[in-house]
Amino acid sequence: MRKPIIAGNWKMNMTPSQGVQLVEELKPLVADATCDVVVCVPATHLHAVGQAVKGSNIKLGAQNVHFAKSGAYTGEISCDMLKELGVEYVIIGHSERRQYFGETDQTVNKRTLAALENGLTPIVCVGESLEERESNKTEEVLLRQITEGLKGVENIPDLVIAYEPIWAIGTGVTATKEQANETIGYIRSVIAKTFCPKCAAKVRIQYGGSMKPSNASELMGMEEIDGGLIGGASLKAVDFSQIVKY
Ligand code: 13P
Repeated sequence: MRKPIIAGNWKMNMTPSQGVQLVEELKPLVADATCDVVVCVPATHLHAVGQAVKGSNIKLGAQNVHFAKSGAYTGEISCDMLKELGVEYVIIGHSERRQYFGETDQTVNKRTLAALENGLTPIVCVGESLEERESNKTEEVLLRQITEGLKGVENIPDLVIAYEPIWAIGTGVTATKEQANETIGYIRSVIAKTFCPKCAAKVRIQYGGSMKPSNASELMGMEEIDGGLIGGASLKAVDFSQIVKY
């Protein structure tokens, strides 16, 4: 019932021309994918990569968006700007933005509402730190991130949630399939209680954190896991395509 979605988060890697080369390599490898395939590229790459993926099944994503329509926000990028370049998805509230760039549940909420109003699909990231997991605060943290971050969203299935435990990002340590499944199940139960049970059954929730060809199929085989948000392994066409074909 929920169509799986595998998205690459390139983070701050590669130049625009290298990005084009990567998607050119990727296109034939994922042409017969049965899931949604997205590449979330740096803002500087959106135009060129957007041109390169035209006519293919690869969708274009950005890594952040500002909530204002326009104005004096030096360095920021609006929904209209993204849309004109063919962007359909946008990552919001990645843990790296929360950690290094002052992103809060409140700014995540504003960005999410703005993206939805403008017809972009937010990929809203949530996840706990190692310290929070070890002190049994995972559920508390996720409950706060979901209720605050998604406040006022009318139709939850219009967005995608990415559960990314911070301790699994870029570390090579993956959450076990049971851990990921259980925690995503918890997120779904929060959605059911806070929003509606039907929305909870429909919304797609990805796992992210050291997902790679060798563990993609076992993670994707779990009932609650509807996709992946892939960092490191999305920078290699073959690896990313193998995840897409889990
Ligand atoms: P890695 O796949 O490199 O662990 O990164 C995960 C991530 O942060 C995707 O947004």
